[in-house]
Amino acid sequence: MGEGKLHNRVAIVTGAGGGLGGESARVLAGHGARVAVTDINLAAAEQVAAEIVAAGGEAIALCCDVAEESQVSAMSEAVVARFGRIDILHNNAAILTNEQRSKDLDVINMDVEAWDRAMAVNLRGAMLCAKYAIPEMLKLQRGSIICSTSGFGVQGDMTLTAYAASKAALIILCKSIAAQYGKQGVRANALQIGLAPAENAHGTMNPAVMAVIRDNHLTPELGTPRQIADTVAFLASDESSFITGSTLVADGGFSSHAPSLVGVKALLAAAGTNKI
Ligand SMILES: NC(=O)c1ccc[n+]([C@@H]2O[C@H](COP(=O)([O-])OP(=O)(O)OC[C@H]3O[C@@H](n4cnc5c(N)ncnc54)[C@H](O)[C@@H]3O)[C@@H](O)[C@H]2O)c1
Repeated sequence: MGEGKLHNRVAIVTGAGGGLGGESARVLAGHGARVAVTDINLAAAEQVAAEIVAAGGEAIALCCDVAEESQVSAMSEAVVARFGRIDILHNNAAILTNEQRSKDLDVINMDVEAWDRAMAVNLRGAMLCAKYAIPEMLKLQRGSIICSTSGFGVQGDMTLTAYAASKAALIILCKSIAAQYGKQGVRANALQIGLAPAENAHGTMNPAVMAVIRDNHLTPELGTPRQIADTVAFLASDESSFITGSTLVADGGFSSHAPSLVGVKALLAAAGTNKI
């Protein structure tokens, strides 16, 4: 794949067996990175890694449940054994199954196991992957960690309370890593993502809810996995070398407008005026 901006870099992408993680793995490889495609679903990871290799890139597939320290440790060792180093960690994995979504509700209806599972995968998993990647990054005196977060992590909403709290915590996890290892060349940033429907998680989302969310994005359409992956590649590369401890918002303006915008727009349209 030539000498792209990530030539010779080694990247780990978690939850990369599909969705946004799969696209991140493909795009990082397209920029020349050697990619460890890791997922709790090995068959899915193998498929993404095979696509990368078929396209002329370098990738391996590894099974890893990020919530389990022994598996994260083994995965990190396998990456170093194969590629010799770790430059980039994209903490993308999150538990977003239909079962999880049906139990991660408002606070009084919260299923405590679903709460713990969200924290174990989305938050502890990201910390564990960083725990084992950072020592390798310190050997290189360079590294970039990207944690996928969400508007849910910065604004209150009706449901997915555990998911939201886990995503909020990732923001400070990135700041902690940036503060602790920044002088040794390791950067960490959160990537706050708007709705960018990928094949797995959103196939079952209620179309009426999707329409409301679409109306609250300022862009003509919702995001695409490619748009998010391009932002990951930017944060992974030296193009973002002065950005650390920060949150980059790639959400089509979802979090940037007045909460009343969509309602006011509708009122103005109905009244046939542009004056409030
Ligand atoms: N797609 C969006 O619109 C959107 C919006 C905001 C934030 N995000 C964030 O982007 C990331 C990817 O979202 P997506 O839409 O692609 O979701 P997805 O459900 O399609 O993909 C998640 C992947 O993580 C894997 N996974 C689940 N549990 C795991 C575990 N314990 N260990 C390792 N892997 C595990 C799954 O197998 C799956 O491949 C998530 O962190 C999500 O919170 C997505």
